[in-house]
Amino acid sequence: MVELKRDELHASVCDPVSASMNFLNEVASRYPDAIPLAAGRPYDGFYEAEDVHRYLDAYLSYLRSQGLGPDEVRRQLLQYGRTNGQIHPLIARWLERDEGIRVPPAAIAVTAGCQEAMVIALRGLCAGPRDVLLAGEPCYVGITGAARILDIEVVPVPETAHGVDPAAVAVVARQVRASGRRPRALYVVPDFANPSGACLDVPARMALLDVAEQEDLLILEDDPYGLFGVDDRPRPRLKSLDTRQRVIYLGSFAKSVFPGARVGFLVADQTVVDQAGRRTLLADELSNVKSMLTVNTAPIAQAVVGGVLVEADCSLRAANREKIAFYRRNLALLLDALERAFPPSTRDSAGIRWNAPAGGFFVVMDVPFLADEALLERSAREFGVLWTPMSFFYAGGGGERALRLSHSCLEPEQVEEGVRRLARLVAALA
Ligand SMILES: Cc1ncc(COP(=O)(O)O)c(C=O)c1O
Repeated sequence: MVELKRDELHASVCDPVSASMNFLNEVASRYPDAIPLAAGRPYDGFYEAEDVHRYLDAYLSYLRSQGLGPDEVRRQLLQYGRTNGQIHPLIARWLERDEGIRVPPAAIAVTAGCQEAMVIALRGLCAGPRDVLLAGEPCYVGITGAARILDIEVVPVPETAHGVDPAAVAVVARQVRASGRRPRALYVVPDFANPSGACLDVPARMALLDVAEQEDLLILEDDPYGLFGVDDRPRPRLKSLDTRQRVIYLGSFAKSVFPGARVGFLVADQTVVDQAGRRTLLADELSNVKSMLTVNTAPIAQAVVGGVLVEADCSLRAANREKIAFYRRNLALLLDALERAFPPSTRDSAGIRWNAPAGGFFVVMDVPFLADEALLERSAREFGVLWTPMSFFYAGGGGERALRLSHSCLEPEQVEEGVRRLARLVAALA
């Protein structure tokens, strides 16, 4: 019998964040009737297994319309494929049409979810132990986890209520440089971040691009929630404002199509120069990482997402009208329910507060007690409601008295009932 010592395995195996997420899932499975205000997954009701066949057919018809014969179509779907994928021209059309992002299709790499895009970008950019990633904190666990797998240090930049502060990014970048390390990139979710719900205003976006230029940083812009604003106000993507090629855009189809496709992408239109002065596209260089990670993104999964794009004439905004309306209503319901459950007359004195994000899946609530795993378990057992401790999203302490609440996978009635149950928990701790 071989017995391996756990503390001799890589740090990512014992990642405390994975342990916390596993704990949350385990509590959810032990209390299946608890309302999951913790879960950030999209609403199930939008997906039908039969639709997958229709999307596949739409994509195959598209390939034929591009002049591919039966053998080529079969190969395209069932063979190993181009490392950076095959639906990049459709993604390029969608990005231009919906988001005003104009990039050559060759600058797009289709990945196994946004998660793989993060790993590829980090691996390609960070050459050694001196290269560190800056990230707004509280921070999405997917990027800190990816960095941990790769032994890349993450230096937090504390977020304000309005998201990451460009001036604070500059300060942290300089501190990192003064310590002999290189701040290689900043990770940011400008629209309705996970977990904070924060959204950068346009001046802050412009300032962040200026800071990236001044401090010689790249920006990893992660955008899974940008479609789901509470109104149609334009919120330009950093990448659409990026005239100096500072931004690597990370995309996910998990919410705009469905998570089961496991398809995402990155846009890396920067130029790479070698010692002989030869110039290549960063996306092409990063394909060397991708080829050793997953060879290429499953062509069948790409074909399904490709079919969605073809059917929607490359407008995911149009294709997602129903989802956008659903998530807007659920967010409004969540905020209304909080307002009713915690009236202003009592909440201020009790130290209860929450933010009102302009979109997305998450609201953060400050509470006057320790919101830790023990309380989460009690909340599920005695009160039938689950939430996520905000402390999960801080690497070095923070968020101990705050909860992340999500509405995305719930029926509207469950949102209201979930908040009523949460109010009972809070009352019991008063
Ligand atoms: C900030 C953020 N980035 C990316 C993702 C999803 O990535 P993927 O496409 O790998 O599902 C999520 C999903 O929860 C997220 O919250």
